[in-house]
Amino acid sequence: MNHFVNKVIWITGASSGIGEALAYAFSAAGARLLLSSRRTEELERVRAGCARPDQARVLPMDLLDFPSFAVRTAEAIGAFGQVDMLIHNGGITQRSLVIETELEVQRRVMELNYFSYVALTRTILPHFVERKSGHFVVMSSVMGKIGTPMRSAYAASKHALHGFFDCLRAEVAASNIQVTILTPGYIQTNISQHALTKDGTELGTTSENIAQGLPADKAAAQMLRAIGHGAFEAYIGKSSGGERLALMLNRWAPGVLIRQVKKHPPK
Ligand SMILES: NC(=O)c1ccc[n+]([C@@H]2O[C@H](COP(=O)([O-])OP(=O)(O)OC[C@H]3O[C@@H](n4cnc5c(N)ncnc54)[C@H](OP(=O)(O)O)[C@@H]3O)[C@@H](O)[C@H]2O)c1
Repeated sequence: MNHFVNKVIWITGASSGIGEALAYAFSAAGARLLLSSRRTEELERVRAGCARPDQARVLPMDLLDFPSFAVRTAEAIGAFGQVDMLIHNGGITQRSLVIETELEVQRRVMELNYFSYVALTRTILPHFVERKSGHFVVMSSVMGKIGTPMRSAYAASKHALHGFFDCLRAEVAASNIQVTILTPGYIQTNISQHALTKDGTELGTTSENIAQGLPADKAAAQMLRAIGHGAFEAYIGKSSGGERLALMLNRWAPGVLIRQVKKHPPK
């Protein structure tokens, strides 16, 4: 059964990588789309590449401009008369040691990857509650479950999402509102290009693990399956990759994982 026909799905971070791949996959599955990020021309490119471009709208927004969220949310609801699903996906990563990372960098990652999700959830939630229907999809990461060197800000922001959205799920279940948290491993996108380094400048290169990750279209296909099943939480990525093993060790043998991470930190 196709769960997504005519559903109105709002995707943040839709101009690139995972968000772009999700736009193509959901459009092919018959959904109506709202595509958000800062770069309008990139969003237009994605819209044009969708299977049903006439059923997709571009809704530019800066996820750090919290005061604009109420207006953006009203525009999103107004575009098709409702929003059925919000995919919190826009985000940034970081590559620097704790000892050298400026506090401002720690804050910037948290503002974008965590607080913007909280703020946008607050503006759309009354709509979901009123309709007694809605689905939040949250792009966490394997780094939302474990910790490795050089990722303190990123891992902290992703861990925080689990706490917040697990609580929200428990609060809104009676209103028929779902929460699916996705924890991808390495996916081939531009994420490491834009990674913040110790002083906030961008890394500007593609990390080896990202280059060897799962292609974004394959990740999107896995995501649609997990979302369609209403999963509470789902790993997305290579079935044979070290990331899946890391999640299992974290759960059943955390000491072994910590020793492995010390010996083989991710690149
Ligand atoms: N790639 C991976 O291996 C991986 C693994 C686990 C989780 N994830 C998560 O997947 C999500 C998407 O990342 P990606 O891998 O697809 O990276 P990406 O290709 O760099 O895409 C990041 C997206 O976030 C948007 N964005 C960044 N800053 C923004 C801002 N201030 N306001 C609005 N939008 C903003 C970008 O759009 P604009 O520049 O147009 O604003 C872009 O569409 C992130 O949450 C990331 O943490 C990725």
